[in-house]
Amino acid sequence: MLWITGCKGLLGAALVRASRQAVLATGKEVDIGDLAAVRQFAEKHPGITHLVNCAAFSQVDAAEEFKEMAYHTNARGPGHLAIVAREMGAKLIHISTDYVFDGKGRTPLVETAPTGPLNTYGKTKWEGEQKVLEQGACVIRTSWLFGSGGQNFVSKLLKLLQTQRQIRLTDDQWSRFTYAPDLAQAILSVLDRTGLYQYANRGVATKYEFGVAMREEACALGYPIVTDEILSVPGASFPSPCERPIYSAFDTSKMERIVNIRHWRDALKEFLCEQMPAYL
Ligand SMILES: NC(=O)c1ccc[n+]([C@@H]2O[C@H](COP(=O)([O-])OP(=O)(O)OC[C@H]3O[C@@H](n4cnc5c(N)ncnc54)[C@H](OP(=O)(O)O)[C@@H]3O)[C@@H](O)[C@H]2O)c1
Repeated sequence: MLWITGCKGLLGAALVRASRQAVLATGKEVDIGDLAAVRQFAEKHPGITHLVNCAAFSQVDAAEEFKEMAYHTNARGPGHLAIVAREMGAKLIHISTDYVFDGKGRTPLVETAPTGPLNTYGKTKWEGEQKVLEQGACVIRTSWLFGSGGQNFVSKLLKLLQTQRQIRLTDDQWSRFTYAPDLAQAILSVLDRTGLYQYANRGVATKYEFGVAMREEACALGYPIVTDEILSVPGASFPSPCERPIYSAFDTSKMERIVNIRHWRDALKEFLCEQMPAYL
């Protein structure tokens, strides 16, 4: 039996949908930062063979203000899950982030590239990775996640394109977008693995490049797009309490030896087709 934590989040919900079988899906009622709560849930469900941790404190700016809460969920939580997974004899896959890197380079980052998180979110996620790897479990890093549900940049962008004549998008930060249903499928393919992996859709892009492509694809599909100007702006024009990596594109060769990865533009087209009934 597969246990998915963070089941109401963007990735957790996509993974529950992709599983196509009975799963144990928990949200905040099983607080992963509370070891006793995690253990109690596990003891009540002795049939758990695999555990995927999609729970996180994922608001990057808010993590600066709520440091203890970010640490609780992003560092302590994965450590607890790793301990309990070991006790149960279950396999754990924990999800991490490109924000463990400092983003100062300009070439794709392999799993073993030096880390150097720039902000509290990244630091707490890095600690979570260490705790999971120490217990011999599996970590999959991902970047710039999008999909249906949740407060992600891409869902907001689709709404802006239908309501704002002009929008401003960052053009000096590069990474790889990841379609949550694609990552969910990949996770299901590596449930028995251990060690560190990275997954993102193919192609490095800025948010500006993504926005331009989304407008083109959405227009072609018949969405009522009203944006006639997309301005390319520096990230510094959006005030934030913390620094973000400038370049955090993964090298995903290790994962591509196990699964095929499609280009973000193909994933974007599918996302737009999936969203259509809700909008038109
Ligand atoms: N989103 C991205 O762009 C992105 C990029 C790189 C990596 N990631 C990583 O990918 C994973 C999935 O991210 P996501 O975007 O799906 O996040 P999400 O939408 O914020 O989902 C996380 C879920 O975890 C729940 N949660 C928070 N604290 C918890 C706790 N202590 N115990 C149990 N559940 C708790 C949240 O509940 P509430 O919403 O009620 O707080 C939320 O439902 C995370 O590990 C994240 O760090 C995300």
